[in-house]
Amino acid sequence: MEKIILDCDPGHDDAIAILLAAGNPKIDLLGITTVSGNHNVENTTRNALSVCTAYGIKVPVAKGSPGPLIIDQVLAVEIHGDTGLDGPVLPPASFELDKRHAVDFIIDTVMAHAPKTVTLVPVGPYTNIALAVRKDPRIVERVKRVVAMGGSYTRGNITPAAEFNVYGDPEAADVVFRANWDVTMVGLDLTHQALATKELQDRVRAVGGPMAKFILDIWEFIATTHGGLLQIEYPAVHDACCVAAMIDPTVFTTEKADIRVELAGRWTKGMTVCNFEKMGGMHHFGGTASEQTDFRHTVAMKLDHPKFCDLIVDALERLARQ
Ligand code: BDR
Ligand code: CA
Repeated sequence: MEKIILDCDPGHDDAIAILLAAGNPKIDLLGITTVSGNHNVENTTRNALSVCTAYGIKVPVAKGSPGPLIIDQVLAVEIHGDTGLDGPVLPPASFELDKRHAVDFIIDTVMAHAPKTVTLVPVGPYTNIALAVRKDPRIVERVKRVVAMGGSYTRGNITPAAEFNVYGDPEAADVVFRANWDVTMVGLDLTHQALATKELQDRVRAVGGPMAKFILDIWEFIATTHGGLLQIEYPAVHDACCVAAMIDPTVFTTEKADIRVELAGRWTKGMTVCNFEKMGGMHHFGGTASEQTDFRHTVAMKLDHPKFCDLIVDALERLARQ
């Protein structure tokens, strides 16, 4: 079983990531931490609690950072609506938050488990993760991996160059990519292959029940916002891709690269600049010894879409039976 902490900003696709993590027996969901991103942290926390309440997911939920480390807050209201999860109807949350701040929850949980057994799965801006690294750097050595939704080696979505989670807190992303741990970047190049196609929507509809309706309502809402803005035919199920990879690493192929986060560019702030190993080491970042290329990051490349869809439908069927 893979022990994970899901750090999220629900968020439509975040909600599906929660359901996938809770609905697959290979995942031991140690807790959910929330962050400001798609909406403010009050709303993303309420949404996380509501999803857990609605579907009987009994894991600790810890509220995290109200805003990025340095820049002003950037919300994705035009994609996720005024509540952060517009469209589907959810019950009010009926259980209490963990008493700890998300940053302390992450540190406590990682340090309480054996070395290299807990994976961090950030699928919102990486503020909580960066603060946890700053507060207790021992977690860098201790975690198994970081599998993060965010970034891109081709296009952005919030700007031509930058993806939302990295753009939402670039300095935090810089901390995460520079820390000496095993990071996988599950960027837009991958998640734009993870589309809720008509076939997937029909399979979810065939399962039936309130949770299937919830997922279909998510996609119906997102199709009206995300699809229009990004010229994608179907809604992208971004965040669930990270959880899918924890369940079955063969769900996407990967390549090694050296990733740097652009912090100063006038038009490119928040861009994840990727130097791929397969380029033969010809294209270095150059400069001082500390800037030498080291291909220690992993980049998600090609999704096995049928396998991804099977995992979503399987989790839905299991949760519906519980
Ligand atoms: C990311 O931004 C958010 O809107 C989604 O939840 C996802 O984590 C995609 O760029
Ligand atoms: Ca998200």
